[in-house]
Amino acid sequence: MTNQTAQLTVDGHTYELPIVESTAGEKAIDIRNLLHETGYITLDSGYMNTGSCESGITYLDGQNGILRYRGYDIADLAENCVFIEVAYLLLTGELPNEKELNKFREDMIRYALIHEDMIHFFDHFPPNASPMSILSTMVGSLHDFYPEMDLDEDPYGGITTATARLLSKIRTIAAFSYKKSIGHPLVYPRADLNYCSNFLNMMFERPNIPYTIEPLMTAALNKLLILHADHEQNCSTSTVRLVGSSGVKLYPSISAGVGALWGPLHGGANAAVIRMLETIYADEMNFDKYIQMAKDPNNPYRLTGFGHRVYKTYDPRAKIIKEVTHEILETMNIEDPLLDIAQELEYRVGKDDYFVSRNLYPNVDFYSGIVYRAMGIPTNMFTVMFALGRLPGWISHWQEMHMDKENNRIGRPRQIYQGVVKRPFVPMEERR
Ligand code: CMC
Repeated sequence: MTNQTAQLTVDGHTYELPIVESTAGEKAIDIRNLLHETGYITLDSGYMNTGSCESGITYLDGQNGILRYRGYDIADLAENCVFIEVAYLLLTGELPNEKELNKFREDMIRYALIHEDMIHFFDHFPPNASPMSILSTMVGSLHDFYPEMDLDEDPYGGITTATARLLSKIRTIAAFSYKKSIGHPLVYPRADLNYCSNFLNMMFERPNIPYTIEPLMTAALNKLLILHADHEQNCSTSTVRLVGSSGVKLYPSISAGVGALWGPLHGGANAAVIRMLETIYADEMNFDKYIQMAKDPNNPYRLTGFGHRVYKTYDPRAKIIKEVTHEILETMNIEDPLLDIAQELEYRVGKDDYFVSRNLYPNVDFYSGIVYRAMGIPTNMFTVMFALGRLPGWISHWQEMHMDKENNRIGRPRQIYQGVVKRPFVPMEERR
């Protein structure tokens, strides 16, 4: 809280509203007592202008393209860390020392298996079930298979058994759901592999056909997961907080976050980008047609992978993922026509006043799908990959919310009612 206040005059009265300043200098008008003092609420559809909490996890400056986890620049973390190191940072607030990281690695191995009875669940999904619905169901069901996970010794902070188990098991669940979807036998986690290599091995190893884990692929996966690990109050993280605010435990809250991530305006965009690029390719690269459709105010079509609620410049994650895309494709000699289409589209959009004037730049989802394709990951698994990456962020926010005892209230927005105010009941025989 600062000493500054904002004045609001309504109905002839002037009210003083406190101003809150962030550690990075952003300011907010605190309206928590507005209704009580003035009788007014605020209206902000889509929460375009509403701060829902105070948080110390991720700093995002959308004007200048800055993204930091716990104060560390995203580019430094992506360059120098492994994913679980960054997960540790998000969860505890500090990078782990060697001993702490080794212990965390051991946890990832110790907890990697899932209860064998959960495997029956996979068997009973229809063959074309979406991996996101499988993931959401499985994560929710952890609550029943591991009830002690929700009665953790220290549920509100740091690395708990529950968080370590969830981080490890979600990777096994994701890989198993893929194997089931293609009808292949499950590949179990191995004790000798690190987090990302283990995931790739569970995805791609087959009986009698050894799978070589390319270090470049592991490194790329590490980077992608780090870049997705948190993004402050996005739709799915806000969902995890909102659901958790009702008092429900960690697993159902995360399961709800998976559902929120699924949508094409959020994490589902990475798969939608590939479908869009494929459509443009199949349509003889008629870029103009799709650009015009996206610009037409009467057409709901959008160029997926462009634009962001907060970034008004190039998404710093997209910049790094674009570099990774080139590195992977060039080093591994992979030719993907979708990369050429993506680059051409980015070039044309960058010259078009419609997109420039609205600050619509490539976002995190624009190039990530091309890297996943190079790894052999099918399009319907892309959003699952996003969920794997975002999990440490979701858990960190859930924990932070619970630790903030002073402000930890059930999330419950208000509304402005615009329906019929009151009318007499009409009996059935009089209804037309
Ligand atoms: N293509 C064409 N026009 C767009 C696009 C786009 N991708 N994105 C925004 N606009 C236009 C929009 O029509 C509006 O124009 P006008 O002012 O003339 O009405 C203006 O730009 C502002 O858009 P908005 O919808 O008010 O912005 P928002 O902050 O509500 O939406 C967004 C943000 C990400 C949902 C939106 O940019 C979008 O739909 N992008 C495509 C989907 C996508 O790539 N989503 C992934 C987001 S990043 C990862 C994540 O969050 O998971």
